[in-house]
Amino acid sequence: GNKCTMPPESRFDCARDRVLSERECKERGCCYAPLPDSAGPPWCFYPSLYPGYKMGPFTPTTRGQAATLTRANPSYLPRDISTLSLEVTEETAGCLHLTDPSSQRYEVKLPAGVPLSRAATHDALYTTEYQPDPFGFIVRRKSNGKVIMNTTVAPLLFADQYLQLSTTLASSLVSGLGEHYTSLLLDLNWTSLTLWNRDMAPHADANLYGSHPFYIVQEEDGLAHGVFLLNSNAIEVILQPTPALTWVSTGGVLDLYIFLGPDPQSVTRQYLQVIGYPMMPPYWSLGFHLCRWGYTTTNTTRRVAQRMHNANFPLDVQWNDLDYANKRRIFTFDPWRFGDLPEMVEQFHARGMKYILILDPGISSTSRPGTYPPFDDGLKRDVFIKNATGHILIGKVWPGPTAFPDFTNPETRQWWEDWIRDFHSKVPVDGLWIDMNEPASFVQGSVEGCPDSDLENPPYTPRVVGGQLNSGTLCMSAQQKLSTHYNLHNMYGLTEAYATYRALTTVRAKRPFVLSRSSYPGIGRFSGVWTGDVRSDWEQLRYSIPAVLQFSLFGVPLVGADICGFGGNTTEELCVRWMQLGAFYPFMRNHNDKPNAPQEPYVFGQRAQAAMQSAVNLRYSLLPFLYTLFHRAHTSADTVARPLFMEYVFPSDPNCQTIDQQFLWGSSLLISPVLEQGAVELAAYLPPGTWYSLHNGQPFYSKGQYLLLPAPLDTINIHVREGHIIPQQEPALTTTASRRNAFSLTVALSAVGWAWGDLFWDDGDSLDTYELGNYCYITFIAGQVGLRRVIPAILPVLTVTSLALPMSKVFTVQWAL
Ligand code: GLC
Repeated sequence: GNKCTMPPESRFDCARDRVLSERECKERGCCYAPLPDSAGPPWCFYPSLYPGYKMGPFTPTTRGQAATLTRANPSYLPRDISTLSLEVTEETAGCLHLTDPSSQRYEVKLPAGVPLSRAATHDALYTTEYQPDPFGFIVRRKSNGKVIMNTTVAPLLFADQYLQLSTTLASSLVSGLGEHYTSLLLDLNWTSLTLWNRDMAPHADANLYGSHPFYIVQEEDGLAHGVFLLNSNAIEVILQPTPALTWVSTGGVLDLYIFLGPDPQSVTRQYLQVIGYPMMPPYWSLGFHLCRWGYTTTNTTRRVAQRMHNANFPLDVQWNDLDYANKRRIFTFDPWRFGDLPEMVEQFHARGMKYILILDPGISSTSRPGTYPPFDDGLKRDVFIKNATGHILIGKVWPGPTAFPDFTNPETRQWWEDWIRDFHSKVPVDGLWIDMNEPASFVQGSVEGCPDSDLENPPYTPRVVGGQLNSGTLCMSAQQKLSTHYNLHNMYGLTEAYATYRALTTVRAKRPFVLSRSSYPGIGRFSGVWTGDVRSDWEQLRYSIPAVLQFSLFGVPLVGADICGFGGNTTEELCVRWMQLGAFYPFMRNHNDKPNAPQEPYVFGQRAQAAMQSAVNLRYSLLPFLYTLFHRAHTSADTVARPLFMEYVFPSDPNCQTIDQQFLWGSSLLISPVLEQGAVELAAYLPPGTWYSLHNGQPFYSKGQYLLLPAPLDTINIHVREGHIIPQQEPALTTTASRRNAFSLTVALSAVGWAWGDLFWDDGDSLDTYELGNYCYITFIAGQVGLRRVIPAILPVLTVTSLALPMSKVFTVQWAL
């Protein structure tokens, strides 16, 4: 009938769970209309007002209001939940919480008492209307009536292992829903994105290491909003050009948070008020890190650091991969090749350097009893994940058969801390690199396979690499303290990062550094993230920018890709360009896989080395500024590496909505790297206003336009935005040394002769310096009273030598030119 005549792009799939024949489709009460192409719009789709839940009246609760949803007839899914409870609260964000009142369904609990935001009700920026039958809701922005969400376009489904909610989108400019190999703006042309943590080298259409069920939409008029689904089950998100989006989750509840901004930066801040603000990283961790798999002895490792030093390259942190460990078992070190590891670390420390090594969560389970105490002790203390029959689940990782610590168990966190303390008393590491924590396993499920059950083979499996949820990881039926692995899988890395952060805090009594591969909302509170096993090629170089920017949106400001690429051989030119871009990753580490050609900066020719050196020195000179941005991330949930759309919004500048080959540090430094092989110039977009080249102070008065910039091999183009002051410091070979050098300020006056900047400064690695008041915060204001004309063509650079920085003070340095 005419209930089936909507345009193809407005169809919502009635057969997501499996392929249906025409007859089966119609038996569901859905419309069937084949199209020439099976890849685009669905052939079997819901008619309008397809039956679903019916909503009862609202009653007030302590935090908002609640209603009961019931369905008169079962849906087409197994184990329907026919009565739901809906609770709606209005805090800084709008929250819609859809649960099953009759059973204790699994619900996500973030570590240590998050969601944090239980702020007093603000004047809501939105209104909500409900369609009682079939249940749906429409959220509108109050100021302009814009529809932010409309879920009446398709039915709500809520069965035991299949939850589905569709909504229209306010525009096609959608970002988020990581972790995937994509541009900053997602492709809405009938694509599906799966959120399921997986050890998988980044490539298109694959679920990667992290899961972030959060998206941000740039509304066409310059406003923005965000939506977060607090759910840790396997999730698939279907995007269609309507524009619209469908969430499908395989379990848990629907706990939806809506953030109304109204600007993009406020959206991420509101999101972080729910999942937690990022940790403050130690100052040294913003320096250059060098790593590879294949530094096979302490002497090799020493030699690498020495060659860096001899070639005059800054190096703050030397790393070791699994090579250090005895038979690849964590908390041990190889007595022959790494016998003097403790001495090596002390030597690095004596030079003002730091040292980090890798920990994988898999604990070798086949050593003779008494020969590998971390496992024996773990057995005794019952810290490992169990299989469905209650025995320890054994998978396979680098050391061979392994057990997996259950970090949702407090006793496991204590055990982890005890072994970190024990190891640290021998090898005084400064931070920990937690890898393979999706968790990854080289066998499917376990060495014994998995039982045949609805957890291993749910009625619907989202599109995941390997085709099954337990592919490359543990059995879904595995048991953890809080729930099954089916429910907790996506949070494994988060719970490990929390345990590691806490352990390092207690053991070292200094600011912790943790780097994790797997991620989930809230991980930025404990850890940085790197983007995994990227390949040494130009495309991967390019996609590393949207990857980094997306983690900014997810509240993980400390993020970077393996510079020069992890997989495959780099070339000299690629590595130079990657070091230049990497100098502007918030986290800067060169890391390489075992079989590949070396890519430490000193292995290249003189010209390449000089280019790399100047990029790293430029970063070191900017570290006071970068550190201040991290302070602002920690205290105000600002972003560090920032997409242009967060600073310049349509209608003032539509170009900035889409750009992801350039980005900003804070609001004032524009980074325009070369991303093409052979290029020696670059068309860079400069948003409206005056921009000064950081290299020579040349101003450019942009109307909002692309500019062709020279970019020979030794150059990465950096521009300073008018009206800003950048605090800098003379670089040195470590931050220990550079922190003693003279400060300077780069002052980029605005057209009216004014500029502003700030500096957060503390000892760089004590705990809670801000919280305890052991810091100094300075704002700089430059003004040229009465000046109304465009400023001179040179960038005035003032050098303030040895700023004496009294702690616990906030003051302002002001001067007139
Ligand atoms: C994984 C990591 C990589 C590491 C390797 C060996 O592939 O992603 O960074 O070098 O394991 O530990």
